[in-house]
Amino acid sequence: ESPAGGTPPMPGASAPPMPPLFTHEFATDPYPAYAWLREHAPVHRTVLPSGVEAWLVTRYADAREVLADPRLSKNPVHHSEAAHGRGKVGIPGERSANLMTHLLNIDPPDHTRLRRLVSKAFTPRRVAAFEPRVRELADRLIGGFAERGHADLIHEFAFPLPIYAICDMLGVPAGDQDDFRDWAGMMIRHGGGPRGGVGRAVKRIRAYLAELIHRKRGDLGDDLISELIRASDHGEQLTENEAAAMAFILLFAGFETTVNLIGNGAYALLEHPAQRRLFQDAVAAGDTGLLRTAVEELLRYDGPVELATWRFATEPMTIGGQRVAPGDPVLVVLAAADRDPSRFADPDTLDLTRRDNPHLGYGHGIHYCLGAPLARLEGRIALSALFGSLPDLRLAVEPSALRRRGGLIMRGLRELPVEFGP
Ligand code: HEM
Repeated sequence: ESPAGGTPPMPGASAPPMPPLFTHEFATDPYPAYAWLREHAPVHRTVLPSGVEAWLVTRYADAREVLADPRLSKNPVHHSEAAHGRGKVGIPGERSANLMTHLLNIDPPDHTRLRRLVSKAFTPRRVAAFEPRVRELADRLIGGFAERGHADLIHEFAFPLPIYAICDMLGVPAGDQDDFRDWAGMMIRHGGGPRGGVGRAVKRIRAYLAELIHRKRGDLGDDLISELIRASDHGEQLTENEAAAMAFILLFAGFETTVNLIGNGAYALLEHPAQRRLFQDAVAAGDTGLLRTAVEELLRYDGPVELATWRFATEPMTIGGQRVAPGDPVLVVLAAADRDPSRFADPDTLDLTRRDNPHLGYGHGIHYCLGAPLARLEGRIALSALFGSLPDLRLAVEPSALRRRGGLIMRGLRELPVEFGP
């Protein structure tokens, strides 16, 4: 066992050396390094690029346990560095914008109350009714480049689709949605980095949402923000600040994730011709069952969320045989857990027909993705519209030329240039 703050357990003399983490090569393909960690140092203390020290949990069984363990808090006040004013977690600019009280940063009982309220508004029925609108959005975006013979699938498709979809759902008027597209662009370009763009974008979103909620209070409609305002739990209403924080987390959690599901998913299909044929045949045959299974497998194989969001130990505890001290950050590496050979057969193989697939791409436990039904719908509609409309879609550059976006939590491409047609 390694002491807190020390090096990983010494591998046996014959073990290969640990591949470096957080390099360019790692960003392109982190899976070999994760395989090494799963095997030799499944709960591994590391220094993150930001300078913060944290534990990485890479085995499926440990990951699932940690995600559901109430001794780990989501509230950054529990971070040992927070006490010294050195806390470097969370979205820059978010604190000043007073949007901290959202689901991913709070514990029960507040989490339970807010999640129950939002679940009343964000119902499976509301999501299912949204399918024709997502299809229309996808077709409109594809129509914007279909004649041209080439496109950047991230900027022209994967990026705008979820932002327009969630704006529609929230009830942001059509005339304001391009502002949201710009603000979201500022947030994603800076990838959660320390530059000013994120803070500015968050402030504008905050001001806009406060105004919108205020307006809607006097004129409730059939949208999610109106439902949030209406939703009450034993007569208890959301405060305007809670409603704004909720609208913000729905935008923030549902945006870059879905961009990456469409981007990573399209890239994986382009790189696996036999699986891609299977997918296109299912689109042609209207085999929704296979399309659903396929989207789950794309999530497992190269999912949008590489690491689950921050958790902090609130008491001394043991994770996978490793002692973890109170205040220590614990990061669950979903991308590593979802390729664990002790849970998934042939984990490094993309198999769109995989049935036994309890992947952790949407998390697990009380913070399990609230937007999973919407994400599944958007992923299935977007990818089937794309490969159905442009059956000869192909990469326009060598895979080695593709760049990844920075940032610790998410895993996604900066651009995805494609060609199609004669
Ligand atoms: C939570 C993944 C899309 C809203 C989460 C978590 C994961 C995740 C892994 C848990 C994080 C943790 O425990 O640290 C994804 C993926 C998506 C996606 C892979 C797309 C493919 C969406 C969408 C929405 C959304 C479209 C909403 C419109 C949320 C919210 C939470 C959450 C509100 C926090 C839930 C809570 O703390 O109770 N998501 N998500 N997500 N997601 Fe998603």
